[in-house]
Amino acid sequence: MKIDPWSSTTYQDYSKLRDEFGIEEFSERLGRNFPHPHKLLRRGVVFGHRGFNVIQDYVAKKKPWAVLTGLMPSGKMHLGHKMVIDEVIYYQSIGADINIAVADIEAFATRGHTLEQTKEFALKEYIPSYIALGLKPEKCRIYFQSKNEDVKDLAYILGKKVNWSQMQATYGFNASCNMAHIFSPLIQTGDILHVQLKKYGGNRPTLVPVGVDQDPHIRLSRDIAQAHRLYNVMVTKDKKIGVFVKIDENVSKLLDNAEKILKNLKFNKLKRITDYKAIYIEDAVKEDIQKIDEALAKTETRFGGYGFFQPSATFHRFITGLTGEKMSSSKPESAIFLTDTPKDATKKIMNSKTGGATTLEEQRKHGGKPDECCVYELFLYHLIEDDKELQEIYTSCKQGKKMCGDCKKYAAQLMEKFLIDIQKKIESAEGKIKKYLF
Ligand code: TRP
Ligand code: SF4
Repeated sequence: MKIDPWSSTTYQDYSKLRDEFGIEEFSERLGRNFPHPHKLLRRGVVFGHRGFNVIQDYVAKKKPWAVLTGLMPSGKMHLGHKMVIDEVIYYQSIGADINIAVADIEAFATRGHTLEQTKEFALKEYIPSYIALGLKPEKCRIYFQSKNEDVKDLAYILGKKVNWSQMQATYGFNASCNMAHIFSPLIQTGDILHVQLKKYGGNRPTLVPVGVDQDPHIRLSRDIAQAHRLYNVMVTKDKKIGVFVKIDENVSKLLDNAEKILKNLKFNKLKRITDYKAIYIEDAVKEDIQKIDEALAKTETRFGGYGFFQPSATFHRFITGLTGEKMSSSKPESAIFLTDTPKDATKKIMNSKTGGATTLEEQRKHGGKPDECCVYELFLYHLIEDDKELQEIYTSCKQGKKMCGDCKKYAAQLMEKFLIDIQKKIESAEGKIKKYLF
């Protein structure tokens, strides 16, 4: 199995994905541990993560952390696209600074859109929708890949530590792929890591909320971040904790610096072995590694390094399209667009695939299957805030006390309310875009 960020595969078995790719489980308990957690975190829609513990730690200690995500605007924005932004807005509310990349280079390289088309989609459709959904201009920056020299320079520089066979293994690239496409994951890595440049806030944990199709980019970015570090802190084969200098220049200066940092952190039993480019810390335990590593990272720019924290990521499930396949802009009947009229949305919902039985009688007897129902997903992902109400729908559906016709009507009503409200806000958002653009 391979995850391909550019295919239209749908993923069904999320726990298998986790196992196969070493994604950690994002439990509902983890989600609930946050201040007023968002419903996507509470309800298991966000199902996996990499390195989220670092974010948790920084939130708890009220230390600065960033969110970066990206969008590849193509056509109209639908409920599937809304999810990432819902998460971003939530993270903004608990203190993250927000960075959003408009992936116009990627859209050019992989979808054949011109930069102008992408700009048009972003400014007319996506960004006003983000604002309407509640994104605030404070501590928020939206930029275009093609207009950000720092991102492009970094992409090029970061490429130094990746080779072709790693790119092939990660993405399945072959000899006939065009070079713009092949380079686009490095641009995305540039997006993800540039927020740690001094100009954009410096070294700090960065959370990248994405759909699981983006995991190859996350793995690549984490590898690259690590590869560019000057120090490595680890447990050695004989169970000692050591700081190692990874480069051959400035070794003694780097060791001096590490010694100073370690003493500041109150480690006293240090054994320096210059030949190994190492300092062993005899009074440290495994749990100290993160702290030591972070303190060292923050000094690396003084020695010409980048000091990147490995970026963290959360992965959310994809919402099923109303037809039962993937929700996609190219199949309008599968998607509800934020700009749909309530009448069109109602029609799509009334025609949607549910988990109901073939006859009413059977449904009364055996119940419906909310876990396989698009209408239920609308409630779960978007329409119902109150967990109790959602639970009631689930239970009464399973017990055969609820019929699909009524259920759809209720969903259509809630959707109508949502659409009327959001469209009003989208209209008034168009004048505010400047405040968000970098
Ligand atoms: N590749 C993403 C997509 O297909 C868009 C994207 C570009 C992105 N840069 C990013 C996502 C950085 C997360 C982080 O939608
Ligand atoms: Fe889905 Fe509602 Fe029908 Fe249950 S009753 S299967 S939740 S539409």
